[in-house]
Amino acid sequence: MNHQDFSDQVVVITGASAGVGAATAEELARRGASVVLAARRAPELDEVRARCGDKALAVVADVTKRQDVQRIFDQAIAKFERIDIWINNAGRGQIRPVLEITDEDLDTMIRDNTRSVLYGMQVVTPHLQARGNGAIVNVSSIVARMHVPRPVGSYAAAKAAMSRLSDALRGELAQSHPEIRVVAVYPGAIATDFGQNALGQKADSRKSPGAQSAEDVAHIVCEAALKSRGDIYTLPNGPAMVREYTEKQLAPLGPTP
Ligand SMILES: NC(=O)c1ccc[n+]([C@@H]2O[C@H](COP(=O)([O-])OP(=O)(O)OC[C@H]3O[C@@H](n4cnc5c(N)ncnc54)[C@H](OP(=O)(O)O)[C@@H]3O)[C@@H](O)[C@H]2O)c1
Repeated sequence: MNHQDFSDQVVVITGASAGVGAATAEELARRGASVVLAARRAPELDEVRARCGDKALAVVADVTKRQDVQRIFDQAIAKFERIDIWINNAGRGQIRPVLEITDEDLDTMIRDNTRSVLYGMQVVTPHLQARGNGAIVNVSSIVARMHVPRPVGSYAAAKAAMSRLSDALRGELAQSHPEIRVVAVYPGAIATDFGQNALGQKADSRKSPGAQSAEDVAHIVCEAALKSRGDIYTLPNGPAMVREYTEKQLAPLGPTP
């Protein structure tokens, strides 16, 4: 790893007060980036900011509110005059069987995991278009692509919607702005407080079999932010798992008798 390979980069990270977002912010700062950290909890966010050193700005914001996302952008520009990379990492889970999902459950998942990312993409893309390059990194989940043995349908649906919006923006920019990279990261389980913060049933993500550390996932997010142009799975066997799952779901009608 080149230790200063982000040195001329300004990077915004949402959900930076804990978990993957905090670990990503800290790695980016170690690698020389100027970082703009956003989350709702001011004390936790400020602790991460302090660990990121001099070139870090904390913006207390709720990414489910469009005006807050605009304020993250405005404060980043006011301090650093430009943004190179915007990482939509904030998200929230929900563990509830499909037959028990309420209207409010689904609306909440879409608000927290889909609309929040749409706001981020809409706020930063015109700036990247004007500059002609940059990257948007959206942290999705492998559950957007396959069923896992846990009732997370509403969360998976919201992450899948977010992922398709991300694909759509990538496609819309491909011709006109090929130097703007739109990246989606698909982690499996990560050992953070995510399961405890989920709505519905609680789960301990730290005890999930095969859970990756926040630092390992953060490293992949950083690498993706630096050079990827597409979909990144954080588990080495992630693409194979999704391919195998997808193939099993295909039920050809077969020849007409
Ligand atoms: N952990 C897993 O097993 C797992 C697996 C696959 C994908 N993911 C995805 O990875 C990303 C990071 O998750 P994590 O494991 O680091 O979870 P986490 O430990 O629960 O951290 C979530 C972060 O998002 C912030 N956040 C949540 N809602 C927000 C809002 N409305 N506005 C601003 N910030 C908000 C939280 O800060 P505040 O509370 O201070 O706002 C916190 O910093 C999420 O998108 C998640 O869906 C996680």
